[in-house]
Amino acid sequence: MAAKAWGGRFQQPTDELVEKFTESISFDSRLAEVDIRGSQAHARMLAAVGLLSDEECRQIVDALDSIRRELADGKLPQRIELEDIHMHVESALIERLGDVGRKLHTGRSRNDQVSTDLRLFVRAQIEKIDALLEGLQLAFVERSPADLDVVVPAYTHLQRAQPVLVVHYWLAYCEKFQRDRERLQDCLKRVNISPLGSAALAGTSLPIDRHESSRLLEFCEVTANSLDTSSDRDFIVEFLAALSLIAAHLSGWAEEWILWFSTEFGFLKLPDAFTTGSSIMPQKRNPDVLELIRGKSARVMAAVPQILTLIKGLPMAYNRDLQEDKLALFDSVDTVVACLEIARPIVAGAELQTESIQSRLEEGFLDATALMEYLIKQGVPMRSAHETVGGLVALCEQKDCRLADLTLEELRAKCEQVDDDVFGVLGTKNAVAALCSYGSGGREPVQHQLKTWQERLNLS
Ligand code: ARG
Repeated sequence: MAAKAWGGRFQQPTDELVEKFTESISFDSRLAEVDIRGSQAHARMLAAVGLLSDEECRQIVDALDSIRRELADGKLPQRIELEDIHMHVESALIERLGDVGRKLHTGRSRNDQVSTDLRLFVRAQIEKIDALLEGLQLAFVERSPADLDVVVPAYTHLQRAQPVLVVHYWLAYCEKFQRDRERLQDCLKRVNISPLGSAALAGTSLPIDRHESSRLLEFCEVTANSLDTSSDRDFIVEFLAALSLIAAHLSGWAEEWILWFSTEFGFLKLPDAFTTGSSIMPQKRNPDVLELIRGKSARVMAAVPQILTLIKGLPMAYNRDLQEDKLALFDSVDTVVACLEIARPIVAGAELQTESIQSRLEEGFLDATALMEYLIKQGVPMRSAHETVGGLVALCEQKDCRLADLTLEELRAKCEQVDDDVFGVLGTKNAVAALCSYGSGGREPVQHQLKTWQERLNLS
């Protein structure tokens, strides 16, 4: 009969089917590094309170270091009868140290251990993803000075609405990614709390010092209630929700650039190295990477309801259901990291098709709102100005011309407040130049935004 850590009360060996069904080593071996760090801190705490001698602690810490190296070199074989990463590490320790190794699990259980590991893992991922988000913001901000003269149509309902500087688009993405970064930092407050020493669910009668192990692992606080701690996976749901918004922002950007890359839009050329061809149509250049960024966002978003469904209705405290949390967590992290890594060089390397953009910039009455606002400045009530310009647009459509092509007489026939300075607001260039409110897409407000971003990202 295999010597299970929990085998004391059992008369029969575990069925092979059960071993296969319950193991998690096939996916949680990824937690090896944080598991060992957590165990070393736990051992040091046990020594600090006298539950281990200093010599025993030293042996455990050293042996864990060598187990870490073996794991990294792939030299520690996976044995499904050892269930998970926690038992693999502990059994390797006991193999090396015998009774001293058998002391490590004093005052803790796998329930607080797995929570510790997951919190350390998520904390590290937050740092990594934050840096990747910053890198993507940098890609947008770094190309902005060179793109500052480019004006593009901006859309609502995917219909041409008003012109803006293209940099207004770049900085709009930066804002979204900034909120994503802030959300991660907010989530970190609830991740960065030590569960270690909550033991199985009720704490322990042993004189452990949870604040000491928390300090050693650089957590900010210690969880207050062992029942809550043992059952809590809120921090994973929150983290996945933050990742889902990152995925949503990436997906929206990808969709936009897929459109911009099309012949119909012709706004953007993606770098050759980041596009793919067709096996049958020789002329094709496809934005497969962007499509996959859009497509992969689905898995990240699906992780949120998956974990909510997992925890819904579980009685306190730990239940084995919780072992399933890792699959969605790891997959979402890997997906978001991969998308962010590949997005940066695409943003940096894409070329604006300025001639093609320019050639159709006077289509779609992008200056209609500017004309309406001109009339408002001339004293026309807003609703009347709106109606007047609507009538002028209809007239242009009849005549197949632009607002700027109408004569002063035609303009004045619809509204006598029009003066000849009206031609200073008509046309896309004038319309974008007129945008001046805080946060708008005109030159000065965009330059102001850009300066703020350059300072924020330490570029100036
Ligand atoms: N592999 C388990 C998990 O990932 C570790 C905790 C097991 N605890 C237990 N009481 N069986 O959740």
